[in-house]
Amino acid sequence: MDIFYDVPLARLNTFRMKVQAACLVEYDTAEELGGIPEDLPKPWKALGGGSNLLFTGDFPGTLLHSRIRFIQPVEMQEYVLVRVGSGACWDDLCAWAADHGLWGIENLSHIPGEVGAAAVQNIGAYGVEAADVVDTVECYDLVERRFCRFSAAECGYGYRTSRFKEEWKDRYIVTAVGIRLAKEYSPKLDYGNVRTAAIRRFGAYEVETGSLTPSRVRETVIGIRREKLPEPEELGSAGSFFRNPIVPREQYWQVLRKAGEEGLGEVPHYDAGELVKIPAAWLIEKCGWKGRREGNAGVYDRQALVLVNATGQAAPGEILSLEEKIKASVLDRFGIRLTPEVEHI
Ligand code: EPU
Repeated sequence: MDIFYDVPLARLNTFRMKVQAACLVEYDTAEELGGIPEDLPKPWKALGGGSNLLFTGDFPGTLLHSRIRFIQPVEMQEYVLVRVGSGACWDDLCAWAADHGLWGIENLSHIPGEVGAAAVQNIGAYGVEAADVVDTVECYDLVERRFCRFSAAECGYGYRTSRFKEEWKDRYIVTAVGIRLAKEYSPKLDYGNVRTAAIRRFGAYEVETGSLTPSRVRETVIGIRREKLPEPEELGSAGSFFRNPIVPREQYWQVLRKAGEEGLGEVPHYDAGELVKIPAAWLIEKCGWKGRREGNAGVYDRQALVLVNATGQAAPGEILSLEEKIKASVLDRFGIRLTPEVEHI
């Protein structure tokens, strides 16, 4: 375990906010968490790859970062259960699964961040989310100071959320996650343009006759992401900044009416039971924000859901002010209240 004080965080958050933490602890085993000195600055908070958060200023407490990176497969009859350390890079796990011909997380390829955070925030992309594959989550309980484990059902997963983000917030530190991967041929190509992109890459015959592999789907997904999303090394961002709003049907009709009146074209949407999910990117784009800059902050020109640190010099206040302006204009124009997906710290 290493303990650092007054730590610059620019390299520890993909938004590249130049802020500091009073203290950072990096630990290599779950057991070390039991030995963290009580007198380190509070609050204590787990930090993953820093790819889904916005530091709104200096952090006065202690960030706990896992360097537990093992990948331990246990062969089962129909599937493979993989126990993975919380500090493993999520995409390294996706690459490992693809290399072993295992299905389940190929659509989640190339998402920045670490395995522990993936299980906390229920990462998702292209019709798959972490909750589909998480079996168990092993944790250290900061309140009771003991180890525990939760089944996926106990984690209360929902769209980009879990109990770890709600009533359990900042109580449990994830140390390892059990992931269930399938041996059986099971590509998921039905989201957006995944099938079309796979056909373009490998040909219709291969795609429709069961000749895909997890590696091929992974390659397809990485291709799509590279076209639409900024690489954290090149342009600071935290991926999707807002959640896609899930609204009552009447509110969707209101948006439809508005789109008709103003010639905004078709309104993309997905049915969610009684409710309707509308892509926040569409709402933001139709408010004229796509590609716009405000000082050092901006809206990505290829995906309106992504706020960026356009110059690398953006201060947290600039991102926050852009966030507020976008929320206000979407509310004003469509009557929909956007909520951030990115955690504000
Ligand atoms: N759209 C626009 N303008 C844009 C971009 C998209 O109008 O600039 C519309 C299009 O109609 C498109 C629809 O929005 O069909 C959906 O876009 P996309 O498939 O890119 O997905 P998204 O809803 O914007 C979500 C996730 C992404 C994930 C993609 C693909 C959330 C908050 N975001 O974005 O996750 O990669 O789906 O599954 O649910 C992330 O969480 O950081 C992230 C990138």
